[in-house]
Amino acid sequence: MVEIAPSLLSANFSCLEKDIITVTKAGVSMLHIDVMDGHFVPNITVGPVVVKDVKKSFPLYLDVHLMISRPNEFIDAFKEAGADSITVHSEACIHLDRTLEKIKSYGLNAGVSLNPATSPEFINWVSDKLDLVLVMSVNPGFGGQKFINSSLEKIRQLKEMREKLGHLWKIQVDGGINLETSPKVIEAGADILVAGSAIFNGEKAPDEVIRLLKANLANS
Ligand code: DX5
Ligand code: ZN
Repeated sequence: MVEIAPSLLSANFSCLEKDIITVTKAGVSMLHIDVMDGHFVPNITVGPVVVKDVKKSFPLYLDVHLMISRPNEFIDAFKEAGADSITVHSEACIHLDRTLEKIKSYGLNAGVSLNPATSPEFINWVSDKLDLVLVMSVNPGFGGQKFINSSLEKIRQLKEMREKLGHLWKIQVDGGINLETSPKVIEAGADILVAGSAIFNGEKAPDEVIRLLKANLANS
């Protein structure tokens, strides 16, 4: 079943609790938390402190997307904070296999994210260690960007690779997901849709957008 993971990046950080309650009431059980360091990507967001406080207040699955350089050095901190899943960028990991081993050794789900220009083959030799492959459908760093259409072919190729390799990781898509792009992404084979601005910054209320996104899933 395809899942919706709201990205907190576009929530209102002065009333985060209110925004999380809204999406929780709309039936969401996974939150996507975007961690940016101003180095790997040209923006800075939140760190383990926010993950810890959200985990303390909500029984939600926290899917932490690390858009940072040297992610290996911060796995412990996010594990301690209560992350359920940690996704690192293939482009930021010199020792990707080692980093994934570390995440798995803590009993967490491990993901690898692929920038728009990164080939799906990148994951070939770590495929057996993965729970998630994140297809970036925008260049990472900001919410509210336009969906990059070539991501659809990448999702299809990943789906084929997964079948061929006989693995079970999920395909997550992040960036520019809205009511118009979501049916295409679902059709291509995505399992988890991350949506930020469409949920929190659109003309419609967040719970209404989640309801409509779910209707898209049901119709696909
Ligand atoms: C972008 C982040 C996304 C972001 C998506 O670098 O990884 O999770 O919040 O935002 P939208 O849905 O607005 O494209
Ligand atoms: Zn993200």
